[in-house]
This record gives sequence, structure tokens and C-alpha cells, in this order.
Amino acid sequence: MPNAYDIIDHSFDVIVLGAGGAGLRATLGMVAAGLNTACITKVFPTRSHTVAAQGGISAALGNIENDDWRWHMFDTVRGSDWLGDQDAIAYMCREAIDAVVELEHLGVPFSRTDAGKIYQRRFGGHTTEYTKGDMAYRACAAADRTGHAILHTLYQQCLKHKARFFVEYFALDLIMDEDGVCRGLLAWCLEDGSIHRFRANMTVIATGGCGRVYQSCTSAHTCTGDGSAMALRAGLPLQDMEFIQFHPTGVYGAGVLITEGARGEGGYLTNSDGERFMPKYAPREKDLSSRDVVSRAEAVEIREGRGVGEKKDHIHLHLEHLPADVLDQRLPGIVQSARTFAGVDAHKEPIPVIPTVHYVMGGIPTNIRAEVVSPTKDNSEEVVPGLMAIGEAACVSVHGGNRLGTNSLLDLIVFGRAAAQRAAELIKPESRVRDADGPSQEAALARFDRTRNSRGGNKPGEVRPLMQEVMQTGFGVFRRGDTLKEGLTKLIALRDPLDRVTVDDPSLTWNVGLVSALELANLADQAVVIAHSANARTESRGAHAREDYQKRDDVNWLKHTVAWKNEDWNVNFAYRPVRLDTLSSEVESFPPAERTH
Ligand code: FUM
Repeated sequence: MPNAYDIIDHSFDVIVLGAGGAGLRATLGMVAAGLNTACITKVFPTRSHTVAAQGGISAALGNIENDDWRWHMFDTVRGSDWLGDQDAIAYMCREAIDAVVELEHLGVPFSRTDAGKIYQRRFGGHTTEYTKGDMAYRACAAADRTGHAILHTLYQQCLKHKARFFVEYFALDLIMDEDGVCRGLLAWCLEDGSIHRFRANMTVIATGGCGRVYQSCTSAHTCTGDGSAMALRAGLPLQDMEFIQFHPTGVYGAGVLITEGARGEGGYLTNSDGERFMPKYAPREKDLSSRDVVSRAEAVEIREGRGVGEKKDHIHLHLEHLPADVLDQRLPGIVQSARTFAGVDAHKEPIPVIPTVHYVMGGIPTNIRAEVVSPTKDNSEEVVPGLMAIGEAACVSVHGGNRLGTNSLLDLIVFGRAAAQRAAELIKPESRVRDADGPSQEAALARFDRTRNSRGGNKPGEVRPLMQEVMQTGFGVFRRGDTLKEGLTKLIALRDPLDRVTVDDPSLTWNVGLVSALELANLADQAVVIAHSANARTESRGAHAREDYQKRDDVNWLKHTVAWKNEDWNVNFAYRPVRLDTLSSEVESFPPAERTH
């Protein structure tokens, strides 16, 4: 059984799990600081999902119109529906300016203004003068392939600094010692089937989100939240998982992203009457309102019979009125995606779109130094030694109940950098790395072996859609007590089928069936936490819109949900206060206020 696996040992100062924007930015900072760093990734680095980020990375550079990072901060707090932690948001928005200039110096090929500055476009929910002014030009863009440009640049820089990469390694579990310290992780090399133990003084989870819990999402098939599931199995909690972002413009039927930058360049939405409906819902911000607001408006239009198409079940996004050179220079990828996935020429016809799952606001709770924290019984919290989390896998929390577009790339870069800075403070290069065997490692190997030899009768590809459908219908744009409960009951009824999978072939070499089974288990763990957390929060805030509790309830719910998953598919909850203190002398906190659009 487990002991039959020969284990190849590695020892590093730091290991980073995941090679998207956050993982690569952390890896780069760590190798540059002289730390012996390995980046372990299940896909080739430049295929990480950051490559698909389109519209931009926000920073108040003020290259087009005057801007201020405090306005950016206010928009982010307001966008989060006051669930974001204001110390983290202040840090992110202030650091944004340096972080983007640094990216430029590293070689990111940003688009340019006529004056040669970084091009910036408008994006949803980003305003000036604390919403009193016009929409802000804050999204720094490389056409509509900003994530692609950043990811490739960071990878090249990591190679230049001689970072070690372990590519196409599937992480199995964290190795935790009896004192709750993370000592590294176990991973399976897909290419040759070998099992590896990576020991390190710091392990950084940068594995992205779990969009594939849902049926229709803009995320890659690889977005299965593997690191977050590993944290759950290590007895750590996830935070605010009920907050799932629907992007208003996923291509109808295909789920592929059409950037919000398209509306930033002047695109707009219409219903079956040809009406531009957004001014009804958001008179000031219209089509550039926050994503939760626009997605709900689309859902209402469809529900009230004003959807377009034969089934009246989607919406039109118009770009055909924009000058051809804007489309070709600023949105070339969108023109291509519209043609490939919707069969339309965006120069001439509207693009059929629908709200589509795009981002998970919740994740592994951390402080602003990227260290994983776990709440204690006395309402304080402690750092989990040896463990960090960054990017979509983490919940720091800068996005609260609803993320603003372009704040995701920013989160990756700012907190990837913060993780590297903190690791450099904590770890002396080449210091002793403790041994890392013991019960958690045995349990991880036993779990792997069980899955590998599982013959329960269900193909992962057959049961996964059942779970995704339950999540899509039960935990969507609008939620209600009875449907949430029904969703949870249906999900729990899938426990047995999801457990009893069949892996046809026990081979360890490029066994995609085994990868699917492991990913499915990871998704199921997170689905359970999402479902319970959504049931528990009896208010509407950000992306969590309940028809039976339509108001935000700051008296009872101005707090983060923290959830631990049990063996029996139940969860234990604790709550963390939202941090309203900015911890900065440069900006005061923004007390909770009504969100207007
Ligand atoms: O619409 C977009 O380009 C997506 C950006 C984001 O999610 O930050």
C-alpha cells in the first residue's frame, strides 16, 4: 500500500505551488532575494489561467485623467459591499502604482497612449472623486491580453533568475507536523509517475480559484482549487466562500470571457426590445456598474421575459458602433473570441452574452503579509507557521463580497510581491529544513492510493456534471432560502456517487483519469463549503443576493464567514470581524454606507 511508493526528496528554502501571476511574482521575488526557491505547477507556467485575463490591471497612475489611489481604495471598499478588509485594500491600492511600474520595467508590453505612457481604460465600478466624478481610466492594459503579457514576462524573469520549476507535478497534500506547522507538500510527477516530497521552510499556495465547481464558468478546466482543498484537508478553514462572482459577459453557450474592457471602450448591453437597460438599474454608472449589479440586471431582464434569442435566455453586447480601429487595436482578442465561440462578427453584430461564473471571492484566510491565519476560539487569530497563500486561492480580503474588474491581476502581483518580501524577512537562505514525514504524509499517500485504485463504478466525467448542475441552479446570481437548502440537500445526496469513482487504469504515468478523480474530490470539498456558507448568510451583500433577505445587514453580518469542512460533509463555522482600520496615516477608513450606482 502507501509504503510501496518510492519517494524522491527535495529540500528548498521556499516552495511555491502554482505558476500563475501570483505564483510567478512570488517565485521571482524569492529567487531575487537569494532564497532557494522551487515553483511546482500542474500545468506549464504560461498555460496557467492568468494567461486568460483580458482587460487590465488597475493602478491609479492617472495617465489619461487625474486619479488617486484613495479613490481606487474607496471604489474597492464600496465594490466589496464593505466586506473587504480596509488595511488590505489600502495596502493593495497604494502599492498598485509601484507594482505596475515595476511590471513595466520587467518588460510587460503594455499598450501605449500617444504620449508613450501606459494605456488605461475604464472598467466597472472604478470612479473618480469617491464616485462624485466621472468613471476612472484606471485599468492598465496590454490590448485585451493583459494577463498573457504579464504571465509571459514573469516567467521569463523567473528563468533569468534561475528559479527551479517542477512542471506538470500534481500536488497531493500539505505535510503538516504535530504542532500545526507546514513542512512542505507531496506531489505526483505526471510525466514519469514518481512521487516527490518537497520540504521547505515556507510553502506558498498559489493555485487559483475553483470556478469549475460550476457548470458554466470563464475559468480553465484546470481551475479546481487544488491548494484550497489541500488546506481544508489539513484542517484549515476557508473564508467567505459564499461569494461567487458572475461576470456579466460570458459568451452565451460557451462561457468564454468577453472582457469588461469592451464596455470600458464604449460597448453596451440591450434586451429583446433593443433597450439599453442598464440606466434603469444604475443611472450613474450604467453599463460600467459593478459586476454583481450588472449580472443581476441581466438576470432580471431575462427572468421578466426580455432576454434575446429563441429561448429569450441571454443578452446582447454591442460593439459594432465602435470605430474599427478601436476594435482591432484595443480588443483584437474579443473580435476573435466572438467569431470563434459565438459565430458573430463583432464589427457588425452584437455578441450574445450571459452572466457566467468568473471568480471566487473567498479562499484561504491570510494577513496582508500573505501568511495563512486561522481564527482562534477567543476571537483573535494565529498565523499558521510555514504556510502562505496568495492570489485567487487566498482571501486577504481585498474583494470582500464582490471584486472589481482588474483588481484580480493587481491582487496577484501585490500580494505575490508581499509574500516574497515576508519570506525574505523570515527565512535565512539555506537554513536547515526540518524533516517532513509523519502521519499527515501517510494519510496523504493512503488517500492517493485509494483514489488510484478506486473502482466504485462512476466515471469522474459522469458525476462531475451532476455536482456542477446542482451548484449552477442552487447557488446562482439570485439565491433564496428554500432553493439554497434544496441545493445543499442535492449536493449532499451526491456524496456517495462522488466518492465512488472508478479510475480505470492505475498507471502513474500521465494518468488523466486519476488527475480527474483527484480534481473532482478537490472540487467537491469546496462545493460543500460554498453551499453551507451560502445557506448560513441570511442577508444580501455583494454577489450573495438573497431574495428572502434583500437588504445588507451590517448589524449581524458585517463579518467574514470562516468554515472548516468535516468528514461528514458538514462544516463548522466561526466568524472574523471585518477590518475597518486602514492601518495607514495616509487614508482614513470608509465607514459602512449604502452602495449607490
Ligand atoms: O473583464 C475582464 O477583463 C476581467 C477582468 C477581471 O476579472 O479582473
